Amino acid sequence: MKLTALVVSAKHAEVTIRRLIELHLLHSYAKVHRAGHYVYLPLVSVPGDALLPPYRIDSFDFEELPQRRTIKNILGYTPSFDAIGDIAILPANSLDPSVEAEAILSTQKNIHGVFQSIAPVSGEFRTRILTHIKGECRTKVKYQEYGLIYELDVAQVYFTPRLATEHHRIASKVVSGVVVDMFAGIGPFSIPIAKKNPNTTVIAIDKNRNAVQYLKQNIKRNKTKNVCAVIADSMMLPLECNIANHLIMNLPHSAHQFLDEALRVIKNEGIIYYYDITTEENLYQASIQEMQTHAVESGCSIDVISQHVVRSYSPHHYNICIEARVHNLTFKDN
Ligand SMILES: C[S@@+](CC[C@H](N)C(=O)[O-])C[C@H]1O[C@@H](n2cnc3c(N)ncnc32)[C@H](O)[C@@H]1O
Repeated sequence: MKLTALVVSAKHAEVTIRRLIELHLLHSYAKVHRAGHYVYLPLVSVPGDALLPPYRIDSFDFEELPQRRTIKNILGYTPSFDAIGDIAILPANSLDPSVEAEAILSTQKNIHGVFQSIAPVSGEFRTRILTHIKGECRTKVKYQEYGLIYELDVAQVYFTPRLATEHHRIASKVVSGVVVDMFAGIGPFSIPIAKKNPNTTVIAIDKNRNAVQYLKQNIKRNKTKNVCAVIADSMMLPLECNIANHLIMNLPHSAHQFLDEALRVIKNEGIIYYYDITTEENLYQASIQEMQTHAVESGCSIDVISQHVVRSYSPHHYNICIEARVHNLTFKDN
């Protein structure tokens, strides 16, 4: 069957398939085709946003698959849910959690348990409050992202598969030097950076003891030598001044409270990756202004290198990243 195909390199296929499923854009009656280093993915329609790894659009004659029972066939609509490892998490506003869970379990062979998040991630550690709906009542999972395997408990630590492309993007940018990941969680920025770039030394910090326990396991599991996992409050980093070439601040909503500490630790000419949640009317300016104000107070200045939307967060709200170079006006010989 001749269909529109999204063509990606084989190394990006896993994450792209997951994203296309989330966007309901992957055709389910056509077989994914691999040709050398590229994978052809059958599309229902062309994606409107660019939040995917690099791709091109083509036309391709796909092998037809027998029609399967799908969640949409059963329910008449496709419910929103996150799949982390073999667990599906329905949102608080799920229309009918029990029926949706049944449809997921009967069609998705890789899902063994369904939970509902009764509120968005909350609290200092950004965790979910989950209620069990159907299937296995277990919150510990193994999750694969860009060939790396992470173990985590979805009830005890923060994790979202929706940042997969961003984790990979940052790992492709940071090639050497000291990296401080101020809000490391179970390691999805720290471990790919360290694994991809053996010339880096990554200091991965989190205040949640459970997250750091999984982070340590994940470092070991993925045979990563150059990551040091630390339980600490990033408000008072156990680090000397001017040591980081790169600093990741993935705590949207609250990262601004930690800017003074970040600016203390960053080297002259170091780069900060700053995450925030903003509205469509003011995507970047307020966050940049916040960074600039703290920089001036710390005797620094910043140059914005790039700004981009990571994902849509809720209607009219976006998760953004600002990448800025810091010029430390008080320390000239770093
Ligand atoms: C939004 S999550 C990001 C985790 C990880 N970077 C990821 O992409 O999955 C923020 C993390 O910051 C941690 N955190 C919150 N407050 C903190 C603090 N004061 N010091 C250190 N870590 C903190 C939370 O426990 C959580 O794991």
